[in-house]
Amino acid sequence: MRKDSPVSDSSLISDIVPHSRPTLGDIEEAAVLRILRSGHPGAGPDVIALEDEIAAYLSHPGAIATGSGSQALLAALMSLDLRAGKRVAIPAFTCSAVLHAVEWAGAEPVLLDVAEGAIAPDPAAMDSAGTLPDAAIIVHPWGLPLDTTAWKEVVPIMIEDCAQSIGARRESTPVGTTGDVAVLSFYATKMLCAGEGGVLSAADEAIIERAGDLRDYDGKAEWAPRFNFKMSDLQAALAIAQWSRLPEFLERRALLADRYHEPFRSIGLTPILPDPGSLGSWYRYLCWTQTDTADLLQYCVSQGVHCRRPVPVTLDRLMGSDPLPNTREAWHRVISIPIYPSLTEDEQDRVIEVLGEARERGLIS
Ligand SMILES: Cc1ncc(COP(=O)(O)O)c(C=O)c1O
Repeated sequence: MRKDSPVSDSSLISDIVPHSRPTLGDIEEAAVLRILRSGHPGAGPDVIALEDEIAAYLSHPGAIATGSGSQALLAALMSLDLRAGKRVAIPAFTCSAVLHAVEWAGAEPVLLDVAEGAIAPDPAAMDSAGTLPDAAIIVHPWGLPLDTTAWKEVVPIMIEDCAQSIGARRESTPVGTTGDVAVLSFYATKMLCAGEGGVLSAADEAIIERAGDLRDYDGKAEWAPRFNFKMSDLQAALAIAQWSRLPEFLERRALLADRYHEPFRSIGLTPILPDPGSLGSWYRYLCWTQTDTADLLQYCVSQGVHCRRPVPVTLDRLMGSDPLPNTREAWHRVISIPIYPSLTEDEQDRVIEVLGEARERGLIS
């Protein structure tokens, strides 16, 4: 089962507040039933409809739906010819899916430390990081929309990883519109849930065409290695139903975030907020603590409130490379607190209560 599986044994116990939980209801049920009854659960019209929706939202001429966000990342790298001999910069403080995609593409990953006291790398540090890479995957981290303008000056190719940040905006511009390719994930506990699923979207039609060709091995006249990266209509119907609820989800997440800020500040946590002028998607509610979170996390879980570290293992640790100090510091000191549209106010009150108790026990200073 994955790290953030929506259904774990403990999340079935009613007094547990899980770290993540998809928000599914009648619209989603009807969507899945419609596909089952159609007799065509494979890739079909719903996949095309989802691609059209996302391309229109990102003002792109087209998009390609895939079986997962990881597949979308891999297809994006391959379509941009970021393969053997190319260096691709990625943050070390992120989901390992990003590293796996670069490795599968055959490119060399260049791990970037986060800026001091931050959860994302600083493009201004790139000059001192040695030879500039051929490309960068910019991950909008945990719902926070990054400023991509400075990145454009230091890397010739930019993939925007919006897996955690669908709906976030920077000065009213949605994340995913400023890079060469945008990648989205529809994994069960992401902003929008299709069980599994991904999409890549791009301004350049040639990239869309290449990714579309790679995704399907069948019916080709000319040989080239391709694969099955397809999304099914069953997933797409679910994704479309969730897509229609994005405004509702964003509003609910923002409301929940607003309810968290003051109680957490008052007990010594420092919430990580979107930059002024931008709108976070509140995929996760992250706070800095003064010390390592191990004991705090253990206490919260023992009380049924499933807080987590935002990443289980940093990528420098995973690869066994030289420790990146700011990344390690963030790993120790950042806590991720439950937030999702189906979180009830009672559950949220319980989260606040348990963190307050943790403060009284000296686990937050
Ligand atoms: C930043 C980031 N990129 C890519 C992915 C991969 O998405 P998927 O799980 O749909 O393969 C994830 C998933 O956790 C992610 O967090």
